[in-house]
Amino acid sequence: GAPVKADISKLEPGQMVVVEWRGQPVYVVYRTPEMLAALSSLDGSLKDPASEISEQPDYVTGEGRAIRPEIFVAVGLCTHLGCAPKYRPEVGAADLGGDAWVGGFFCPCHGSKFDLAGRVYNGVPASANLVVPPYSYEGDNVLVIG
Ligand code: FES
Repeated sequence: GAPVKADISKLEPGQMVVVEWRGQPVYVVYRTPEMLAALSSLDGSLKDPASEISEQPDYVTGEGRAIRPEIFVAVGLCTHLGCAPKYRPEVGAADLGGDAWVGGFFCPCHGSKFDLAGRVYNGVPASANLVVPPYSYEGDNVLVIG
């Protein structure tokens, strides 16, 4: 299929938009400095913190799993059985572990939790991180997926 382009110039800090690519939802999240800072404290809570067994392009590295640190791009399908995880950025959300929750994605089907880099937490059914699709940028404002 052809690549899909999305203008991200209107995306606000903390906001997520969904772009359709090859019939799949692709989540695009504008991460704030606070969101990025939280990622480095989570390694011990994650199944694959360095994404060694998870799917992502070679040019996406590090804990943030992104080309531009503030823009996170991932296929919005749970790696357990394919439900759509909910974007849950609220730090301390009571239903997601309270103080331990620093924001991320929650799959309502069987309770898998992912951080704001799509990295899966221990103790949930999913075993791999959310998939990062191939993507690039045209200039500052156009995201090209595929
Ligand atoms: Fe997401 Fe099962 S499909 S936890």
